[in-house]
Amino acid sequence: MGRIYLVASGKGGVGKSVFSSNLSSTYADRGVRVALVDMNVGLRNLDLYMGLESKVIFDVADVLSGVVPPRKAFVRDRRFPFLYFLATTQKKEKFTAGHDEMKRLYDYLRRSFDITIVDGPAGVNRELSLAATDVNAVVMLTTPEYVSLRDADLVEQTLRKEGALNRVYIVNKVYKDFLGNSKLPTVEMITTTMKIPLLGVIQYDDDIHLSANSGIPAILGNESYITRNFNKIADRLLMY
Ligand SMILES: Nc1ncnc2c1ncn2[C@@H]1O[C@H](COP(=O)(O)OP(=O)(O)OP(=O)(O)O)[C@@H](O)[C@H]1O
Ligand SMILES: [Mg+2]
Repeated sequence: MGRIYLVASGKGGVGKSVFSSNLSSTYADRGVRVALVDMNVGLRNLDLYMGLESKVIFDVADVLSGVVPPRKAFVRDRRFPFLYFLATTQKKEKFTAGHDEMKRLYDYLRRSFDITIVDGPAGVNRELSLAATDVNAVVMLTTPEYVSLRDADLVEQTLRKEGALNRVYIVNKVYKDFLGNSKLPTVEMITTTMKIPLLGVIQYDDDIHLSANSGIPAILGNESYITRNFNKIADRLLMY
């Protein structure tokens, strides 16, 4: 049975979608069967980060409401042996699914793919709670800022109460020039606030930002420290 990982955060804009695109590409580069699902209902942008926007016809709301079978809605990313992408809907009112529909989709994903990465919305809402049902782990993203940490902690605790058993976190956009700056939380403060296991740390890097905006995940291309870092994160996540 395949594994499903949900990417979530407290604050918006911390890098969930860019992380999801690079993580799914890292797994797909290994030749395993990967699905990437955008559950940020109403705010579609993962298709752009993946460079797949022109291929999208159907979305996750079409699948959940039974308008199309999942295999018709997934878009193939031909840069990889086996990576399929399911876009979110831009119309929030189209998203009327409940737990049963979500469970059916997750059952299909577990049968058809080795790994599914679900890119969630920021904060807690109905779609996040639905997406968190029965996943192997939730990956919380935070940046090294007090506001981002506080919100991540809150969302993480809410998901724990809702039954998400495994929760880990990533500190993203770490500016190396700011390391040790007394105005920002230290690594110790971050680990004390987030009581769950740390999955990895990702630097702020112009290449990550520019690649995302070109529709090319940063892990593609030359072997760089970014690719190595994502591979380590991908390995650690497989423990869940
Ligand atoms: N490690 C990084 N280094 C540099 N830029 C980054 C990094 N991670 C993300 N970004 C940039 O941060 C911005 C926000 O990223 P992204 O859209 O992935 O955030 P998000 O958490 O998915 O946002 P939302 O909550 O709106 O869905 C983008 O401009 C992206 O290129
Ligand atoms: Mg996003």
